[in-house]
Amino acid sequence: MKRPSMISPALLERIVDASEDGIVVAEQEGDENILIYVNRGFERLTGYHADEILYRDCRFLQNDDRDQPALACIREALTEGRACREVLRNYRKDGSLFYNELSITPVYDDADQLTYFIGVQKDVTQRIEAQQEVERLKARQGDI
Ligand SMILES: Cc1cc2nc3c(=O)[nH]c(=O)nc-3n(C[C@H](O)[C@H](O)[C@H](O)COP(=O)(O)O)c2cc1C
Repeated sequence: MKRPSMISPALLERIVDASEDGIVVAEQEGDENILIYVNRGFERLTGYHADEILYRDCRFLQNDDRDQPALACIREALTEGRACREVLRNYRKDGSLFYNELSITPVYDDADQLTYFIGVQKDVTQRIEAQQEVERLKARQGDI
């Protein structure tokens, strides 16, 4: 049987960049988690170029829309160093809204120290807007 070929760092980068989803790595600095890597999918999704956002905490995607219950779950998971998945309202560079299904996973080193968090951002706007439409129709039927 043919052995699988090795994936070079350059090929790995192309693979990660090809993902439709955003993929980021953040490092803890004080009480923030600053971005040290974003893939092309993240740039396409948010409209920001990596140079504009590296070393910033990802909360800039929330603009002033900070009163979101899902944020409490994320803060708790980050403090406890565990994984979480939540849907957030986020805003692209041009100000347009998208619903971001965000998965965060902690990365521990051999000494069991928390070193990074990986974040994967999936645009679920169509799904959420369809659900909202169903809820609106149900509420309207309830009114009749
Ligand atoms: C790896 C990683 C990726 C994140 N990605 C996003 C994101 O795409 N959108 C977002 O609104 N917040 C994201 N966050 C969450 C914010 O960075 C921040 O932790 C959250 O807003 C809670 O902290 P705060 O209350 O200080 O704002 C991410 C956090 C981590 C650690």
